[in-house]
Amino acid sequence: MCGIVGYLGPLNPKDVIMQGLKKLEYRGYDSAGLAILQDGNTKLVKATGKLQALEDRIKNETWTGHVGIGHTRWATHGVPSERNAHPHKVHGITLVHNGIIENYHEIKEGLLARGAQIASDTDSELVAHLVAEEFERVKDLKTAVERVLPKLVGAFSIVVLCEQSPNELIAFKDGPPLVVGLGKNENFVASDVQALIKYTQEFIYLNDREIVKLLADKVQLFSSHGVPIERKSVTLNWSPELTEKQGFAHFMLKEIHEQPRTVATAVQTHLCGDRVVLNRVGFLDKNYFEHRDSIDVEKDWENTQRILQGIERVFIIACGTSFYAGNIAKYFIEKIAQLPVEIDIASEFRYRDPVVPKNSLVMTISQSGETADTLAAIRLAKERGATTLSLCNVKNSSIDRFADGHLYMNAGPEIGVASTKAFTATIAMLNVFALGLGQIRKTLSPDEEKNFVMSLRSVPSKMEVVLSYDKYFLAAANSLKDFRGFLFMGRGTNFPIAMEGALKLKELAYLHAEGYAAGEMKHGPIALIDERMAVVMVAPRDSYFEKTVSNIEEVKARGGYIISLGSGDDHALKRISKMYLPIPSSDWLTNPILFVIPLQLMAYHLSSVLGYDVDQPRNLAKSVTVE
Ligand code: AGP
Repeated sequence: MCGIVGYLGPLNPKDVIMQGLKKLEYRGYDSAGLAILQDGNTKLVKATGKLQALEDRIKNETWTGHVGIGHTRWATHGVPSERNAHPHKVHGITLVHNGIIENYHEIKEGLLARGAQIASDTDSELVAHLVAEEFERVKDLKTAVERVLPKLVGAFSIVVLCEQSPNELIAFKDGPPLVVGLGKNENFVASDVQALIKYTQEFIYLNDREIVKLLADKVQLFSSHGVPIERKSVTLNWSPELTEKQGFAHFMLKEIHEQPRTVATAVQTHLCGDRVVLNRVGFLDKNYFEHRDSIDVEKDWENTQRILQGIERVFIIACGTSFYAGNIAKYFIEKIAQLPVEIDIASEFRYRDPVVPKNSLVMTISQSGETADTLAAIRLAKERGATTLSLCNVKNSSIDRFADGHLYMNAGPEIGVASTKAFTATIAMLNVFALGLGQIRKTLSPDEEKNFVMSLRSVPSKMEVVLSYDKYFLAAANSLKDFRGFLFMGRGTNFPIAMEGALKLKELAYLHAEGYAAGEMKHGPIALIDERMAVVMVAPRDSYFEKTVSNIEEVKARGGYIISLGSGDDHALKRISKMYLPIPSSDWLTNPILFVIPLQLMAYHLSSVLGYDVDQPRNLAKSVTVE
């Protein structure tokens, strides 16, 4: 899950590349480097640690030149170190790589047998050796890259520069994302549009197995066999400010506080008066990406209704936080649309030879739209004959482009590695999806629909209230820092929220926490309960409330430290809890959006109190684009 930037043009490549890498640091931050061609020579600098170490290393460099590449790394092969950092230079070829070369050992043996001097422990350097060998034969960089590709097994994206061919960059994408930025007498390539939005709003998204040749005044696309491809560019109207902190201490805190607005944005295009409209889904629309913003809404809505009316089973496939959101959707869809829902972790679904009956809809949830396991899962689903639907936050991402149908979180760029606003926007969109399905299947009455739509419209203002209680969540966080273990529990849709709360604590405070169905407590976890165990109970006044109170009593009887989250001023919970966190009353459909916010803020505060890097927690990356 590394970050790549390449540039060709009149600006100083060092500035463009470092600016781009800063925007990509969330993708991996254990080492970084850049290479710039100047007068036929490659200036190559690498540094271990955060990007600042590289910045310090090159701040006095006054390179000129007009072409360069840069990389921020999340280590797969080889420990984080300067020699394993990218770019890797072999003879006149210099390369950056994102992904994994699975036949690494076989390639390395072959290179060593041919006398190659291998300097690092990485699979990436081996690719540079292979390109250098082929370039010696063919003296053309694109042809050299084409000839290397069949030798490689795995998912990888690369950008290559060459001293003997100083006016071009060659890039190849298969798996991890690469996008080309188009400028006037300058062109760019990067892992994500955020790296380039300061310079251009015109992009070409690469599909798997495509090569791109960048010149300063021209961009040419080819298949991996060298066949030219025509591809329309996409204009993004993003402002660079969207990717700044805007006064918050961390991107994560900014994104937590953006949630009322992002939830409102997520649903507004799908609420029409008292009704939900699943519009702009573009099921099986071959020209969807060309005309998404000017789609014939009526025709599209009829098409969506026709397709969803034939669905008899729903699968929801995702990873991490997105998987927990999918778990919540199971309750929504089964109760409102009365359709069976199967939930699966993408890395399990893709390898378990799943049975996907005919008339199945397979929905993937992915903030990045690039998670390798989720992308593999949706590909398998399509092979098994399912209709596929993507819910993601990054438009034109690999998963979005592959799916038959398209829904969006519309949460804007999420920079914090720990997902927050994308999660609540996802839940809001899953509300919309369940209501739309219920409407289409006539399992939801107009009055019920009207009540749920009113509830959805009122959620952003209730979220503002929750955010205003942050001083209580800070106090709760401070009370937790000395405990040895954490159990987050809930029933019904509160159970996935409990799992998400546990994940946030793991990701941000590096503390072992478990999310559990409260009804499971007596089947094992109760043995953990003593005065050193902190128990966080998600307990809104819903149909599970009385049973959840019984679970809290059982914890209390064994000396557990209880923090409970409840609806309004709940005296029953206050009486039996060490700490009580009040959440505005709402209904079971929208409670998850409200009840996750305290858990996000508790994990945020604990991470800050413990002095950890909130936006870039250790070992993590924002988009897991390798298995
Ligand atoms: C959530 O805070 C984590 N960053 C992680 O679990 C994430 O949700 C998971 O990797 C899935 O990512 P995706 O939504 O981009 O597919």
